[in-house]
Amino acid sequence: MYPQRITRLASALLLAACSFSQPSGPFAPDSGTSPPPAAATGQPKGWDDDLRLRLAEDRNPDPRTVEVNIEARVSQVSFLPGTTTPAWTYDGGVPGPMIRANVGDRVIVNFTNNLPEETTIHWHGLRIPVEMDGVPKHSGPAIRPGETFRYDFTVPDAGLFWYHPHFHSTAQVGDGLYGTLLVDDPKELAGFGDSVVLQLSDMSIDEKGRLSAHDAGGMFSTLFGREGGALLVNGKLNPVLRARVGVPQRWRIVNSARSRYFQLSLPGHKFVRIGGDGGLIGRAIELEQLVIIPGERVDVVVVPTGQPGAEISMRWVPYDRGYGTAFNRPEEPLMRFQLASDGAVSPPQLPSPTRVIAPLDTKDVTEVNIEFTRNDIDGKFFLGINGIPSGHDEPFKGQTGETQVWTIGNRIDWDHPFHLHGFFFQVLNADGTPKEPIEWKDTVNVPVKKQVKIAIKYDDRPGMWMFHCHILDHADAGMMGMLELTKPGAPSHQP
Ligand code: C2O
Ligand code: CU
Repeated sequence: MYPQRITRLASALLLAACSFSQPSGPFAPDSGTSPPPAAATGQPKGWDDDLRLRLAEDRNPDPRTVEVNIEARVSQVSFLPGTTTPAWTYDGGVPGPMIRANVGDRVIVNFTNNLPEETTIHWHGLRIPVEMDGVPKHSGPAIRPGETFRYDFTVPDAGLFWYHPHFHSTAQVGDGLYGTLLVDDPKELAGFGDSVVLQLSDMSIDEKGRLSAHDAGGMFSTLFGREGGALLVNGKLNPVLRARVGVPQRWRIVNSARSRYFQLSLPGHKFVRIGGDGGLIGRAIELEQLVIIPGERVDVVVVPTGQPGAEISMRWVPYDRGYGTAFNRPEEPLMRFQLASDGAVSPPQLPSPTRVIAPLDTKDVTEVNIEFTRNDIDGKFFLGINGIPSGHDEPFKGQTGETQVWTIGNRIDWDHPFHLHGFFFQVLNADGTPKEPIEWKDTVNVPVKKQVKIAIKYDDRPGMWMFHCHILDHADAGMMGMLELTKPGAPSHQP
């Protein structure tokens, strides 16, 4: 078997793999540009060819400014073999192009809306001014068909972020509008492996490639959260990722589905989670299965093991997020992980993330209590926050510089992924101590009939900030609220 086959080629690869701890710095062209030659990294040739995301072209000569043009339009995209789908796209493809920047860079996006209806772009997870946040009315008017808007902000944090509309979200995101924004920190420790960005989603398309109606399934589907039957990784059904036994890969994953929770299993492998929504975490966590809720990101290292030449199916595993969501559902294939038949190496010692995140000081803070609720009135249901659907609510209040502890409850039969715009938070244990390892998050799961506590320290960006359930069907049905952040002493005003 393969140990006998280790020959000169394999020892050359072994040498290459030994230098693996320094090879691909944060500046290394990983996903998006041409693949580095196999010898430089130890990955098989063309290892991520099937998954490399298009990169948005930087048109600005200033090295600290990334300026791209993005157009939203309906385009025919092929998801199922032999069919095309009239998808809603950024620049003609699903997902939209990846934008890459370094931490501290200025990012300018000249956006044109050529869709048949209004839209906006929301920059999920980015701590940017409220005017750039893409929430109609609170950030500015929605962008009408034929109009352009210039998004212009500085990216203050390293991590994987993503962008999507905040107008008719279930429909617009569900039909294909999402992309990634990867912010690198050149000072961040390299050596976690060659990285690839995986944007997970699903689409509701029939065997002819036609999209389902947005209200298909009616009220029950809204409560359940619409999940499409076509599971996609970077817009592809069951794509191939190549690997070499022993040579680590760093997967930066975002869940961009409307409602689906992704629970992943890669038989024979563990996921070593080194980061999340807001960049690296303080200590690696080893996981048998990986759960990524809608809107959330994970950063994991995978060390390929197994028989060289084997193909391992990464599966979507049903996750019980409440009533009926895992019942009688099979696992589904998501990605083919192919092990190169030549050149297995013994895995290197992986570095550990060394980021130190201080816990927020939660003594003498304001407590805020919110709850995801459902009310049934005259045979109709209303989803909301504290019994009030979005649009009828009074904003919650906060002040710049203040720290608040929120307790988020859930009285309904389904889990809800809570997302706050514009700020990171830390998740706390029930007794108020920080949940270890400490990490910065912007999206957290609130399980059925449970409570989650989070601490948030507001910086100096006053405005009306949105929070909501990231099951977009729930958000559209009213499960959204506002946080009005004012400067101390300044009068409160609603737009
Ligand atoms: Cu991805 Cu309002 O969120
Ligand atoms: Cu919800």
